[in-house]
Amino acid sequence: MDSDQGAGEDKPLLQVEHVKICYQLQHQVVTAVSDVSFEMGRHERLMLIGPSGCGKSTLLKAVAGFLYPEAGTIRFDGRTNLTPGPDRAVVFQEFDQLFTWRTVLGNVAYPLRVIGYSRQEAVERARDFIDMIGLAEAANRYPHQLSGGMKQRVAIARALALKPVMLLMDEPFGSLDAITRARLQRELKRIADETKVAVLFVTHSIQEAMTLGDRIVVFGPPPSQVLAVVDVRDLKGPEDPRYIELQSNLHKLLGAGDEELHGVEG
Ligand SMILES: Nc1ncnc2c1ncn2[C@@H]1O[C@H](COP(=O)(O)OP(=O)(O)O)[C@@H](O)[C@H]1O
Ligand SMILES: [Mg+2]
Repeated sequence: MDSDQGAGEDKPLLQVEHVKICYQLQHQVVTAVSDVSFEMGRHERLMLIGPSGCGKSTLLKAVAGFLYPEAGTIRFDGRTNLTPGPDRAVVFQEFDQLFTWRTVLGNVAYPLRVIGYSRQEAVERARDFIDMIGLAEAANRYPHQLSGGMKQRVAIARALALKPVMLLMDEPFGSLDAITRARLQRELKRIADETKVAVLFVTHSIQEAMTLGDRIVVFGPPPSQVLAVVDVRDLKGPEDPRYIELQSNLHKLLGAGDEELHGVEG
């Protein structure tokens, strides 16, 4: 692994430099990400927003280490040539990302066993994170006995229990009703503040990006490029006059007619 050893507190945690990512289909190469660059701070919540198909999920998967860039560099914590690891835990949109045959406790404890915790340590730590996400009462239930919002909480607890440096979230609240979604946004914000975990979060909701983010990276239509990076960390909420201004700028950049850019498509 190529490495400058340990990015310090003041260095960016993530540097994406001129990254291009392609998929090889049978007779065709699809360029999913053409030339994307941005940086992310050590405890930052960075939102990626853009129209469907612009390569957000592809980019997230490359940061997770599931895909490799065709060109350019992704540097995480001083390292390139990334492979998947518990320092970058992933939460997806789909409710079926849980192990259906394990309880809530089992779902959160299992990955901890895999990375070497004893049974007792894994269960204790799993319980702490299940408490943190407000699911203590449901610890012994199976996924089919949970609502969509509860399933996403389990997925978040499972990711956080790994004590990742960065949480990678791909539209994790995209299939939830508006009320549950708003509640989980508030909780994620609280937990990210408490744990100092960095959050790289894909969304196509302008509201979600503005509520959760420190900064928002705005992608254009494919072939993807970064249109703008917008700082929203000091906004006081929708009553803040700057909120309206930034919101309307984001709408213009994205050419969005309404709050959600493209229905529920992932
Ligand atoms: N496994 C795959 N094989 C081939 N093409 C893919 C694959 N995954 C995504 N793509 C294509 O790459 C582009 C970007 O997709 P994606 O990263 O899912 O976009 P987004 O998450 O922004 O909606 C799209 O054109 C999509 O069809
Ligand atoms: Mg996607």
